[in-house]
Amino acid sequence: MSDTISFHVHGAIAEAVVDNPPVNATSASVRQGLAEAIRKVEADPQLSALVIRCVGKTFIAGADIKEFGKPMADPQLPALLELMDHATKPIVAAVHGTVLGGGFEVALACHYRIALGDTKFGFPEVKLGIVPGAGGTQRTPRLAGLETTIKLTTEGGQIDAAKALADSLIDRIADSGDLAAAALAYAQQLVDEGKGPRSAGALPMPADDPALFEEARKALSRKMRGQSAPLRILDAIRLGYELDFDAALMRELDLCRESIAGPQSKALRHMFAAERDVARVPDLPADTATRPVERVGVIGLGAMGRGIVMAMASAGMPVIAVGLDDGHVAAAMKAIGKMWSSSVAKGSLTQGAMDKRLALIATSDDPRDLGAANLVIEAVTENLNVKKAVFATLGQVTQPGTILASNTSFLNIDALADASGRPEDVCGMHFFNPAHIMRLLENVRAAKTDPEVVATIMALGKRIGKLSVLSGVCDGFIVNRMLSKRSREAFFLVEEGASPAAIDKILLSYGFPMGPFALGDLAGLDVQAAARLARAANATERELRADFVEQMVADGRTGQKTGSGWYSYDENRKASPNPQTDAMIAAHAERHGLTLRDIGEDEIRERLLYAMVNEGAKLLDEGIAPRPQEIDVAMVNGLGWPNYTGGPMFWADQIGLDKVLATIERFRAQQGDAYWTPAPLLVKHAKAGRGFYA
Ligand code: 3HC
Repeated sequence: MSDTISFHVHGAIAEAVVDNPPVNATSASVRQGLAEAIRKVEADPQLSALVIRCVGKTFIAGADIKEFGKPMADPQLPALLELMDHATKPIVAAVHGTVLGGGFEVALACHYRIALGDTKFGFPEVKLGIVPGAGGTQRTPRLAGLETTIKLTTEGGQIDAAKALADSLIDRIADSGDLAAAALAYAQQLVDEGKGPRSAGALPMPADDPALFEEARKALSRKMRGQSAPLRILDAIRLGYELDFDAALMRELDLCRESIAGPQSKALRHMFAAERDVARVPDLPADTATRPVERVGVIGLGAMGRGIVMAMASAGMPVIAVGLDDGHVAAAMKAIGKMWSSSVAKGSLTQGAMDKRLALIATSDDPRDLGAANLVIEAVTENLNVKKAVFATLGQVTQPGTILASNTSFLNIDALADASGRPEDVCGMHFFNPAHIMRLLENVRAAKTDPEVVATIMALGKRIGKLSVLSGVCDGFIVNRMLSKRSREAFFLVEEGASPAAIDKILLSYGFPMGPFALGDLAGLDVQAAARLARAANATERELRADFVEQMVADGRTGQKTGSGWYSYDENRKASPNPQTDAMIAAHAERHGLTLRDIGEDEIRERLLYAMVNEGAKLLDEGIAPRPQEIDVAMVNGLGWPNYTGGPMFWADQIGLDKVLATIERFRAQQGDAYWTPAPLLVKHAKAGRGFYA
């Protein structure tokens, strides 16, 4: 047997046990070992059935992603499953943990399935830009019907064992936690009852429902705009109506292989690996101690503070929420209650869960109450002096060793660290708005932050379900610093003659959820104007001149909340062109004697995106971002950079850094050194013919 499969015999029942850490993926040795186990059972007249189960925390969680793009050793997964289809003795899958992708396909090709009660099932292939390749699109509809199949395969979510049972995707849920024993007993029962093998492929496809496919196609084109895999998966399911089972499996495999070879899957697989890489901070030993965090304090209960309180309580973390005074605290708790109540009304949260969350929140208007917290997150107004005063207080009212984190978006955390008197305990935890929803958390290591503090906040991020990315201290950290370059170019492009709507459209078609101007209107132009003001001392004359947001704010137009900004908004916040914006741009050009020109789509897209790539290269050069992975993960999850391009640094590598550099040099000649001097690292890599990723 192979080194990842052990074979055991219990009377007439054989057992093939997969042990291929970390997630029992169907690597070559697993495929080989399972094929051998099936042949052995077939050949041995003493054996009547085979149970396949896994050790460790999960049943097979998919094909081995690390094998993709490389020649695959035989047997390939579909060939293994074909062996199962033709086996003459029953094969039982005993599943637990997360039964995903190729693992789910193995289970569905087995003739019977028994699961632990807390097992989860899904087809995450779509998230990797892949069409399932081992019968997922053919066996699932025959067992569970079209609706469940379409949802599972095109959205990549998971269902629990109860739903899997109701949908005939499994046959029984084990009564006890002893899955191995339950599976052997089940196999014995099947043998005793004379039950033979059965293949899902022998079942008919459910009645066709073209309208359901059409509806799904429309919804996916909207929800997963720009991605090719979801629609290819629908095509794959339809093969069941066009071809017989075996031919459909072969064609499904072709679609799977084509999708793996495509650029979107390459980028999405890069994102999968990068998300896991960023959890391991390069210069922080894996065994660095973490400090216990049993209660978190949040000081400052504006929109960000409230979101952080919600994020903590939703994750089961006790919170002490401290506001300026009674009024602020009451208003914050009212707002939090309102948001959760609306989730209860929509059915996405139960009243019981909401009550539990509320019970975790203690409130106060006295910072001294933060003495009971192990970690305090400061989310007061974005003003350095105000924040310094808060850190000075926190340094006094909290216990030594309590971690003091700032949620600032761009202020200097080293200055806050000094103000606290305990700089080794100070760091940044920069949440994105709305903090209880956005997955990204930029953790910031300041000059004197203790390694234990870094390890603790990275672990805390994971514990509360966030994707933590470590950044160093600089103006705006990773996301906002890169975003500020895109904003600069967006304003310059408007000054030069591009319309905000045209610019937004170009980024929308690149794959961003919205363009810079729609985003400004959503976030509030007053917020953007305040950020520009805070940075004015370091701004160039041209940057100061492009003062569109200041003009709109002075005019009372702060975006969606006032019904007018770059766009006009109706009562449902639906956008339409805003004549005031056109008039403002025309008057601005006249006032400053600017000549407007026609700007091509390529130039607009490249200026907006390459400005960010170049800044990303500077972040790497300066060591603010430890690796390109941090930048790609942060930009995809913080700014909505389309994940299927792999984030800015991966995307630039695919274009070729020599080409990116040549374009940047062209912009430099046109726009000036102040904006387009290429980052030294970009030049170095471009000249060496390599990318940001080795
Ligand atoms: N292949 C290879 N390695 C995998 C893997 C896979 N399918 N899935 C996870 N891993 C690795 C991770 O890279 C990570 O490695 P690292 O420690 O070196 O970084 C390790 O397993 C642990 O993964 P996580 O950190 O994600 O652990 P969690 O416990 O948080 O999550 C999981 C476990 C739910 C299984 C999660 O890893 C996951 O969702 N994995 C992806 C599953 C997937 O996409 N399967 C489909 C693959 S495509 C396919 O099957 C095609 C088929 O149709 C032919």
